[in-house]
Amino acid sequence: MKALVLAGGRGTRLRPLTHTSAKQLVPVANKPVLYYGLEAIRDAGITSVGIVTGDTGHEVRQAVGDGSRFGLEVSYIPQEAPLGLAHCVLIARDFLGDDPFVMYLGDNFLIGGIAGLVGSFEEGGFDAQILLTKVAEPQFYGVAELGPGGEILRLEEKPEAPNSDLAIVGVYTFSPAVHEAVRAIRPSGRGELEITDAIQWLIENGFRVHSHMVDGYWKDTGRLRDILECNRIVLEGITPGVAGQVDRMSEVTGRVVVERGAVVENSVLRGPIVVGADAKIISSYIGPFTSIGRGCLVQDAEIEYSIVLDGSSVDGVSRIAHSLIGRNAEVSRASGVPNTHELMIGDHSRIQVRA
Ligand code: DAU
Repeated sequence: MKALVLAGGRGTRLRPLTHTSAKQLVPVANKPVLYYGLEAIRDAGITSVGIVTGDTGHEVRQAVGDGSRFGLEVSYIPQEAPLGLAHCVLIARDFLGDDPFVMYLGDNFLIGGIAGLVGSFEEGGFDAQILLTKVAEPQFYGVAELGPGGEILRLEEKPEAPNSDLAIVGVYTFSPAVHEAVRAIRPSGRGELEITDAIQWLIENGFRVHSHMVDGYWKDTGRLRDILECNRIVLEGITPGVAGQVDRMSEVTGRVVVERGAVVENSVLRGPIVVGADAKIISSYIGPFTSIGRGCLVQDAEIEYSIVLDGSSVDGVSRIAHSLIGRNAEVSRASGVPNTHELMIGDHSRIQVRA
């Protein structure tokens, strides 16, 4: 069994971060989303992994390398443009050979691993197995319609008027039969070769396609609120530990991780939170469900339910919540008159200020 991990694509919903970096590398509890997927693959006993990359390929390579630190052997498969999930299977033909494989979308976050899925696929002798979960807004996903016995009647990619609330989760298992399917289908209305259409093709051509309900937690981290929610879930389960320095003026409650080299002075840390290596938290309040990246400075500020990426500073500002702050960004207090907000923000950014 091999794994094909998709780490190309555009990431338009997480702009401006994704103008400069891969959406699969946005950190959850200070660890890139992609790493959780790679670890799940390794824990399912798979070692041979092909990673499909796009414009941000250099960054993905830098972050994952040859995979040895995850216990994996990683090959890279560059994709010339984001032409669809089934296109990724098409260009990975040489890497995949005639082996069965797991396809894992690099921006998907699944708690509970994939060992169960891989096991039931191998035992069942299926040509494809998909995971399904109930969602509130099925129109944003691939959607499955099931018959009374749980059999798949029809799959559709992002239907305007969905006939069910069952979304297709971004972890699939395939036999080599899928190669014929991805060659047979044509691009969709949005110009992509859809894996959903390839699986529908397998169903229509008499191949055995099985569905499985996800029993654990799943999120596609493509949107801000979803990545903050994943951060919350992971932080709820972290093992507390203080490797940095916390002075006596500070108050630490709940699950709090302070990584090596971090300094906390005269501050209130209310977990669950993680403070990255070499960060400085001075005279500030860090509230629940917050991840502060490596080398950040938070000073005279209050922040909660947020993610701050490496090397950024938040100085003299209260109160920040539900926010994602990119790398090496500065958020500081304006002084003097006139009483204005002074902004220099990236393309496609979103800022909400209290007037
Ligand atoms: O997250 C689950 C959903 O993922 C499924 O319900 C949908 O059926 C499936 O089509 C997919 O929808 P998205 O629109 O969310 O896919 P997205 O474009 O975000 O791509 C998923 C991952 O694959 C992401 O990590 C980027 C990568 N990708 C995407 C495309 C289109 C590639 O590497 N190459 C590509 O050509």
